[in-house]
Amino acid sequence: MESTRSRLAHRLAEAGQSHLVQFWDELTPEQQAEMTSDLEAMDFQEINKFFRSAMEVSHSSKQEKMDARMEPVPREVLGSVTRDRDCLKDWEEKGMRCISQSSVAVLLLAGGQGTRLGVSYPKGMYDVGLPSHKTLFQIQAERILRLQQLAEQRHGAKCCIPWYIMTSGRTMESTKTFFSRHSYFGLCKDNVIFFQQGMLPAMDYNGKIILESKNKLAMAPDGNGGLYRALGTQGIVEDMDQRGVKFIHVYCVDNILVKVADPAFVGFCVQKGGDCGAKVVEKTNPTEAVGVVCKVDGRYQVVEYSEITLATAEKRSADGRLMFNAGNVANHFFTLAFLRDIVQTFEPQLQHHVAQKKILYVDTQGRLIKPDKPNGIKMEKFVFDIFQFAKAFVVYEVLREDEFSALKNADSQDGKDTPTTVKHALMSLHHRWVLNAAGHFIDENGTRVPAIPSLKDGTDLPIKCEISPLVSYGGEGLEELVSGREFRPTLVIDESGAHELVKNGL
Ligand code: UTP
Repeated sequence: MESTRSRLAHRLAEAGQSHLVQFWDELTPEQQAEMTSDLEAMDFQEINKFFRSAMEVSHSSKQEKMDARMEPVPREVLGSVTRDRDCLKDWEEKGMRCISQSSVAVLLLAGGQGTRLGVSYPKGMYDVGLPSHKTLFQIQAERILRLQQLAEQRHGAKCCIPWYIMTSGRTMESTKTFFSRHSYFGLCKDNVIFFQQGMLPAMDYNGKIILESKNKLAMAPDGNGGLYRALGTQGIVEDMDQRGVKFIHVYCVDNILVKVADPAFVGFCVQKGGDCGAKVVEKTNPTEAVGVVCKVDGRYQVVEYSEITLATAEKRSADGRLMFNAGNVANHFFTLAFLRDIVQTFEPQLQHHVAQKKILYVDTQGRLIKPDKPNGIKMEKFVFDIFQFAKAFVVYEVLREDEFSALKNADSQDGKDTPTTVKHALMSLHHRWVLNAAGHFIDENGTRVPAIPSLKDGTDLPIKCEISPLVSYGGEGLEELVSGREFRPTLVIDESGAHELVKNGL
């Protein structure tokens, strides 16, 4: 024990992290044992190296704006659901064929801490208050089930879309338990594969690891780009290979509208011969704080709003759209071959980004302090950091109202990206699906509700309507249920048909 302790003390001293054991003599033997095993598992030299290079990159990127080095996405690598309507059917057909051959997997990024939403459990378990009270995980699972069914019907062969779920040390157990308690929402257990991303300590501005209590380091997941290291360490690339997966759709847990394994997106990327693809939504407001996909010095990357001047953000093309309008929504396509190259060759070249945070810490007296301004950094890699390594990068533009609404914050008056806004986005999409399938809505007096909702004072609520993904993946198959019929909200369409809920708590 003593030699373990002195070895550890020596390693800590060498790495300039001896303060981590400043409360050692006050700890119980159990706490000492736990802390020893936490500390022994850490590679301090590597952590210090990450800190130095992340801080260096952060300083240099603050000094220089990107404007002069940026070019917009060229039209030849771009596909658009609005501008390339003629190709959509072909792309969708191509994607469906790949799905029917079981060569498409989906990969969910669910290792975040959901700090802004402020719940103690993983975000995917959140119930945004739909009539069905389905969670984000359930909506995604049912979309996978329905898509498998559609591909099977179309191509007459059984198929499977494996679902890889990345969690972190903090979310793994509760996520797994939730899935098992819900019988994997009808999916085959063997095709839902959980794996865990890495964690890194939070550090102060001098590179000292922060203690969140006398015997615990302040640890956080290493960003959604921690994916690439985890894919290697957890044997996920091999697992994909063994299952015959060739194409992977990667997405974030908090987008309630996400089209998991979107066949049109997959088909577009495959048809174009892309090894790496980004789904984007049009940025229409120059000051919106969304990163844009573009070329910098000839290579693709995401440039954050803070990295460009307002003049560049406001630049417009001849068609009147913003020149840099490819809004990144962390929704990607990769070939397995590309991911393998990343894992085997390029991952170590990715630098961590620095996020300044308010981090709870214990002071030298052992008192817990809640800082009121940022006191340290978390180091994160981003999922899109690998665009630069693509040999054939492609971009696919979709409509925001159809495909993107993220849950980030808790509900508040006029809040953005809240449970209320995402619930409304989903109901509004389902409302439009019913209208497209020639269904109608009537109000409490039996009068038809106009098909185009008025938005005069911004207080309009969407028509209350929810369609189970088990019935429709993307608006298909609804005619026989709704065509020519009138519905009084709340309308719920599930496997047993279309029902009006008399009472609703929405
Ligand atoms: P965000 O950056 O919005 O973070 O994640 P978050 O954890 O959901 O929320 P905050 O910032 O703490 O409030 C975007 C996506 O990336 C995943 C999240 O789970 C979400 O799907 N993510 C984020 C990871 O998988 N790992 C991480 O380390 C960070």
